[in-house]
Amino acid sequence: MHKGFALWFTGMSGAGKSTLSQRIYDRLKAQGARVELLDGDEVREHLSKGLGFSREDRDTNVRRIGFVAQLLARNGVIAITAAISPYREARGEVRARIENFVEVFMDAPVSVLAERDVKGLYKKALAGEIAHFTGVSDPYEAPVDPDVRCDTASEPIAESEAKVWAKLEELGLIE
Ligand code: ADX
Repeated sequence: MHKGFALWFTGMSGAGKSTLSQRIYDRLKAQGARVELLDGDEVREHLSKGLGFSREDRDTNVRRIGFVAQLLARNGVIAITAAISPYREARGEVRARIENFVEVFMDAPVSVLAERDVKGLYKKALAGEIAHFTGVSDPYEAPVDPDVRCDTASEPIAESEAKVWAKLEELGLIE
């Protein structure tokens, strides 16, 4: 019914990675798929506990998530990941190691994210209270050629979901 693959969400905080990845997870699970969700916040509580937000620590975080996703994917499991993963090079490294890798870019301008500010972090970051905050005082390197780009500022979530689903079907990863 499906192959093992990694579905890699990238995008700034609040862009909708967790929400969309959870929807895709639920839909796959409901169809009986073997699927795991590695969400950024959860990963940082367990697999990456103690890591901060320097470039080195973020890259380590991304490599760890990539390693787990690789193990899952090669055993026929779908690994969905949702971490900011801001650096192109680290994402590329992970992509190169995983046979079936699908990158989803959750795109939204900082102005929109700061307005939503679900966690109240942009307000603090813009006030200079959080150093190295992605998109404000730290870089986010957008994917140049993602498999799917979701314009989360203008696109309803159901439309983003449909785009991801269609891409997985088109690639022959799910039926
Ligand atoms: S990543 O850069 O290493 O991929 P990750 O997705 O795990 O980031 O964690 C991002 C989450 O950590 C954000 O959604 C936010 O809640 C929190 N966070 C705390 N400090 C920062 C920061 N300086 N930059 C970005 N996110 C931060």
